[in-house]
Amino acid sequence: MGSGKADSPVIEGKMYHIMVGPGEVSSYVLLPGDPARADKIAKTWDESWLIARHREYTTYSGKYKGNFISVTSTGIGAPSTAIAVEELLRVGAHTFIRVGTTGAIQPYIETGDLIITSASVRLEGTSKQYVIPEYPASASPEVVMALIEAAESLGVRYWVGITASTDSFYLGQSRPGFKNYFPSFARNILDDMRMANVLNFEMESSTILTLSNIYGARGGAVCAAIAQRQSNEFSPGKGIEDAIAVANEAVRILHEWDEIKRREGKKFFFPSLLR
Ligand code: URA
Repeated sequence: MGSGKADSPVIEGKMYHIMVGPGEVSSYVLLPGDPARADKIAKTWDESWLIARHREYTTYSGKYKGNFISVTSTGIGAPSTAIAVEELLRVGAHTFIRVGTTGAIQPYIETGDLIITSASVRLEGTSKQYVIPEYPASASPEVVMALIEAAESLGVRYWVGITASTDSFYLGQSRPGFKNYFPSFARNILDDMRMANVLNFEMESSTILTLSNIYGARGGAVCAAIAQRQSNEFSPGKGIEDAIAVANEAVRILHEWDEIKRREGKKFFFPSLLR
């Protein structure tokens, strides 16, 4: 059955974990955590076809307003996300947009609002196995601008700023553990991040952004705030349709800007290219 090598496992031409082969996905890939959300995203396109369902990875390709687009779920957290990004890069992806849910830590952010990540604090372990902790998990300026353009055009409430990505949903995001286990370092992390003007907690963006920077790809993230950690409100699902709509539209915009760049012979997008 198998083929390939132990240091780059491939089975019958497909990447070992995501079970996707070259040519099966767009260069522009949406990355939700939840496999069920990949199904939901694919249903919002003009057409879509299932590529693979394997472990936590569900992949579809399709067309959104005529543009080739794909989605792969990453599962929860940094290790499975790094695998998805590694294998998607090998089959030709170059632009990644996380579409997820998040916990807002600034008091002015309401549940259902969207948060567009400009950079992420690397509070997880996976990206530290790639590069020193000082290396920035910054989003691609083009992806950030496309997400802002999309959010404006769709008229949704959104914020832009720094996200913190953790390896732990509970202790790592200042939630008490089982039997109220709550050491002081875990109690303090939320206030420390809030004071440093961090907007939100989630678990995948820093991995996507760090790997994208290392490999010369473009990364970004748009998340719906389903938790508000100051008021202690929890509204699962709120805002997720808006996050999906914004991410789809950002892919359409990036296709358009990339075409203009090609036509004008420019490596980077800048606003006056649109004149
Ligand atoms: N995802 C997270 O990681 N944290 C939250 O509070 C909500 C969603």
